[in-house]
Amino acid sequence: MKLGLGSGRSADQFTKLLGDRVRAGLNIVGVPTSEKTARLAASAGIALATLDQEPALDLTVDGADEIDPQLRLIKGGGGALLREKIVAAASARMIIVAEAAKRVTTLGAFPLPIEVVPFGLAATRIAVEAVASRLGLAGDIVLRNTAGVSFVTDGGHHILDASLARIPDPEALAVALARIPGVVEHGLFLDLADAAIIGLDTDVETLTR
Ligand code: A5P
Repeated sequence: MKLGLGSGRSADQFTKLLGDRVRAGLNIVGVPTSEKTARLAASAGIALATLDQEPALDLTVDGADEIDPQLRLIKGGGGALLREKIVAAASARMIIVAEAAKRVTTLGAFPLPIEVVPFGLAATRIAVEAVASRLGLAGDIVLRNTAGVSFVTDGGHHILDASLARIPDPEALAVALARIPGVVEHGLFLDLADAAIIGLDTDVETLTR
């Protein structure tokens, strides 16, 4: 199989376990969704390819920050949302692995990551605020930073985290955000996940569409 390898703590666990299977003889090639995952997968002995080398994947396994009952997701808490979405879209299937706390009835309690180009950041933020307001959404939209330094994604962009509390119509927000020129991508993953494997205390639950 050709596998997309997600980013984040849950996806890391999958990558490590996949490495065990590879060492036991499993024949797969992985396309990582971040530089961090690429390093982890390489150290686990997984053969890697770029999406240019393998542009059609069988399956991506990734984590999520929120999952609603329709398997719509918020992703990007770790900042890898752009590559995660490109890889997921190039995959025939996407399976999410996550703990039970990630399940929500309505998306939005987790701040929505919005990847933006550094040029014109202030104007882009105003445009994002205007979109939110037009859709009846309100909340802080802040530039992600670590120890006072703006977070930079693998693609060289920044992240605006939008604390909107509730996103009742994620499709409308996704369309509106995609129309803003300075927005590269956003963390609403709609119509991408086929199943979610939810870790409970001593069991797992599988959600499907
Ligand atoms: C990385 O950018 C994210 O999309 C992660 O997949 C998501 O934040 C879930 O990460 P954890 O498994 O670490 O919670």
